[in-house]
Amino acid sequence: PAVIVAIDGPSGTGKSSTSKAVAAQLGLSYLDTGAQYRAITWWMVNNGIDVSDPSAIAAVAAKPEIVSGTDPSAPTITVDGTDVSGPIRTQEVTSKVSAVSAVPEVRARITELQRSVAASAEGGIVVEGRDIGTTVLPDADLKIFLTASPEARAARRSGELKGADLHTTREALLKRDAADSTRKTSPLAKADDAVEVDTSDLTLQQVIECVVTLVEE
Ligand code: C5P
Repeated sequence: PAVIVAIDGPSGTGKSSTSKAVAAQLGLSYLDTGAQYRAITWWMVNNGIDVSDPSAIAAVAAKPEIVSGTDPSAPTITVDGTDVSGPIRTQEVTSKVSAVSAVPEVRARITELQRSVAASAEGGIVVEGRDIGTTVLPDADLKIFLTASPEARAARRSGELKGADLHTTREALLKRDAADSTRKTSPLAKADDAVEVDTSDLTLQQVIECVVTLVEE
């Protein structure tokens, strides 16, 4: 039977790099659920929706058509047929995604999409996000919850952003995680049956090996 792996945790824990590498190594599909929330946020911004108004967001949450490509070596994401892989990583989208993803109508829509992608991945899939083990795929075969100290996470993130100020990065990251952890609908949380892996003092390679071993057990 197809194996389903859920990998959750806050930003800067190495979640994406780990999930992609594990999927590639085990021949599984890969779904980046954060990219889907970023894509719907990009659409809202692009269409002049006031993202501080949850009812305005809810009213149009069903409009954009979001499609995710699940090859771990070349994941793609399109909105109404347009490739938005680049635009969804801007600071503007990053700063607004928590507000958009907190709206229940957005979560219901994206959650349904995630479940259908997972169900159609015949060879199995690694799904990374914030609420995969708790809400989206509570019956996943393996649930991993990645953590890391705020210092390690900020250092990784500012490394990725090439030259971004460490303090600013740290504040923005902690603010987004706090918003994601305190929203009412399926907040960022560790499932009771998830294996917690603290990545603060591990290399990416060590985290990948650890997760691959857990899948193979
Ligand atoms: O993983 P990434 O940092 O790209 O996620 C962007 C945002 O999408 C998160 O900060 C969170 O607001 C939202 N998200 C979510 N649930 C998920 C994945 C991401 O609410 N399963």
